[in-house]
Amino acid sequence: MAQRFEGRVVLVTGGSRGIGKGIAQKFAEEGAKIAILDINEEALAKAEKDFKEQGYTALTQKASVVEADEVEAAVGEVVNTFGKLDILVNNAGIIRDNMLFKMTDSDWQQVMDVHLKGSFNASRASQKYMVEQKYGRIINISSTSALGNRGQANYSTAKAGLQGFTKTLAIELGKFGVTANSIAPGFIETDMTKATAERVGVSYEDFVKGAVSKIPAARSGKPEDIANAVAFFADERSSFVNGQVIYVAGGPKD
Ligand SMILES: NC(=O)c1ccc[n+]([C@@H]2O[C@H](COP(=O)([O-])OP(=O)(O)OC[C@H]3O[C@@H](n4cnc5c(N)ncnc54)[C@H](O)[C@@H]3O)[C@@H](O)[C@H]2O)c1
Repeated sequence: MAQRFEGRVVLVTGGSRGIGKGIAQKFAEEGAKIAILDINEEALAKAEKDFKEQGYTALTQKASVVEADEVEAAVGEVVNTFGKLDILVNNAGIIRDNMLFKMTDSDWQQVMDVHLKGSFNASRASQKYMVEQKYGRIINISSTSALGNRGQANYSTAKAGLQGFTKTLAIELGKFGVTANSIAPGFIETDMTKATAERVGVSYEDFVKGAVSKIPAARSGKPEDIANAVAFFADERSSFVNGQVIYVAGGPKD
């Protein structure tokens, strides 16, 4: 039986570790050709090696989603290498948490740039190939923080913005066979949550325990949980699911 994503080409931004790597892994396991774009060279090299050891070829490229020309070139290289681009996952992200009164202009701007401008840059660069072939899937990684989260005025704004961005892409691109949807993860165990534990001065174990105590499903999330939801939106058979947001958080909110 053919695998679900056989013949498909996927680009995951920020895919060298954490959730993005988990998403790339899922697509590789289900037959897709995978490409990763990231600023972290070390993590890129490790991801490439990890995928190679499993027998998968990953095109890894160092580029920042914030720089339109770098993104254009990286997307072009995906098409040069694999002949097309079917699925884009806008996953690259950063946090610069602080209470509003302590948040700097730079904390605000960097978060807007990576999440919003980054997703804009990658979507704009990718849509031309998708529209031309009359097929595409764009999946944006939002967050439960879109509903509001203490210390994250910048991040919650960006993640809510991504949901509006998703719905607009769905409206504009739907007639070309391109859908746009969003996943809003809750607490997922990655380097990002580890960094948050460090910042608030709590051991990671206690931090995870504290998070889990508020999650109805009574466990923390793993990158695979998000990858699974991404795969649903990316599935060819999900062509009538467009402009939606799924909260993958073990409950309505983490
Ligand atoms: N971990 C969670 O609990 C959680 C919850 C909700 C949403 N998210 C979102 O999921 C996504 C992945 O998060 P994660 O937890 O795997 O974090 P992570 O820090 O482990 O991974 C983020 C990746 O994005 C890359 N990146 C950062 N800036 C970039 C740029 N300018 N250009 C290209 N790549 C860049 C990083 O190098 C890193 O590899 C993010 O968008 C994050 O906001 C995470």
